[in-house]
Amino acid sequence: MAVERYTVRVVLDGSSASSGPSSAALGENASARGAASNLKQQQKPSVSQDKNTKVSPSTAGRSYDVHVGPGVRQYLAEVIPADAQRAAVITQANIGWAVECDTSIPRSVFNVPDGEQAKSLTQVESLCRRMVAEGFTRSDVIVAVGGGVVTDLAGFVAAVYHRGIRFVSVPTTLLAQVDAAIGGKTGVNLPEGKNLVGAFWQPHAVLCDTDMLETLPERELRSGQGEMAKYHFLGGDDLHTMSLTQRIAAAVQIKADVVASDERESDRRVVLNYGHTLGHAIETAAHYDLRHGEAVAIGLIYAAEVAFRLGRISRKRVEEHREVVASYNLPMKLPAEHAKHGDNELLALMRRDKKATKGLTFVLDSSEGVTPVMGVPESILRDALAAIR
Ligand SMILES: NC(=O)c1ccc[n+]([C@@H]2O[C@H](COP(=O)([O-])OP(=O)(O)OC[C@H]3O[C@@H](n4cnc5c(N)ncnc54)[C@H](O)[C@@H]3O)[C@@H](O)[C@H]2O)c1
Ligand SMILES: [Zn+2]
Repeated sequence: MAVERYTVRVVLDGSSASSGPSSAALGENASARGAASNLKQQQKPSVSQDKNTKVSPSTAGRSYDVHVGPGVRQYLAEVIPADAQRAAVITQANIGWAVECDTSIPRSVFNVPDGEQAKSLTQVESLCRRMVAEGFTRSDVIVAVGGGVVTDLAGFVAAVYHRGIRFVSVPTTLLAQVDAAIGGKTGVNLPEGKNLVGAFWQPHAVLCDTDMLETLPERELRSGQGEMAKYHFLGGDDLHTMSLTQRIAAAVQIKADVVASDERESDRRVVLNYGHTLGHAIETAAHYDLRHGEAVAIGLIYAAEVAFRLGRISRKRVEEHREVVASYNLPMKLPAEHAKHGDNELLALMRRDKKATKGLTFVLDSSEGVTPVMGVPESILRDALAAIR
């Protein structure tokens, strides 16, 4: 049986000012506008099957390919820019493959610590200094091998080292494959909060190798599934009928289509925040271990309950949210430990959301798809909280 592999091309709208070093022809690619169709038209994410499994590294314009499937990490040498002299492989010690990976050019492996603390300016400085010491120049390439922590950190180092060098991403967690590694957001944390320093910097290519997920701890898998559940409501109506590889490719396609139309996160891109308004509040309030995807899963149910109370969706659609979340074995209610966090605390935290630049904005489902909504009455927000307790 043929190995199931997909290639999703991310084509960025030329209207944005940002550009990576490989961007040759801003705005030249007409299909960029095609890919930028609105979400409603993305009811069935189209994923082109890469039948002969040949990799075509992106060359012209501001586009790059995301390869998805078992074993695609073997393409690393092919997707590394042809003129790169050396590769700086940034990874974590427990992700063994980086040590043996074939980059075809000389490489150095730089390990970073595990966990959110690795996403720090201290680590950025340390990596940059180690790269200088080893003589890396602007014509070289960074290869990020790891979860979202590594891809965010390594992507940011790529954005700032020598004012920006190319990078290839090999995301190794489900969350990084369907979310963190796609879209060009890179960055690190400050003691004051997460992701407060960063840059938009697009990768040269992304390799989502589904074989890498086999060693992923159960909770890390569940965290990615929370994001996957979100995509069911962003045009991925038929995700439940797909294999894991196909599903990851379809999720990448959905994110790529949104990002293509809104690289710098203005209006369109906020739909990717579906389920995150309450999700972030729960994460902030919870002083116990709750993975991001689990908080998002509860946030999805909450968003559906709010949308139902606003008359935007039917009770049946709320049940569909429950079915999808349940199919990933993710939580649907605030955990019991959460009882001490009253409605007032959660509402205050939602208002403080970093993305709530114009007041408390929810992203809510409707018969027209998911759209931003402002000015939701507080009584509805409280009532919907009762529904998830
Ligand atoms: N840039 C974006 O658009 C974006 C989007 C979503 C999330 N993020 C960021 O992503 C981060 C979370 O990423 P994450 O959930 O992947 O966590 P993570 O990177 O911390 O990885 C989770 C754990 O799994 C381990 N691991 C990674 N790959 C493995 C493998 N194949 N086998 C076994 N263990 C493996 C890691 O070493 C780590 O211990 C957050 O910092 C978040 O802010 C960024
Ligand atoms: Zn998320």
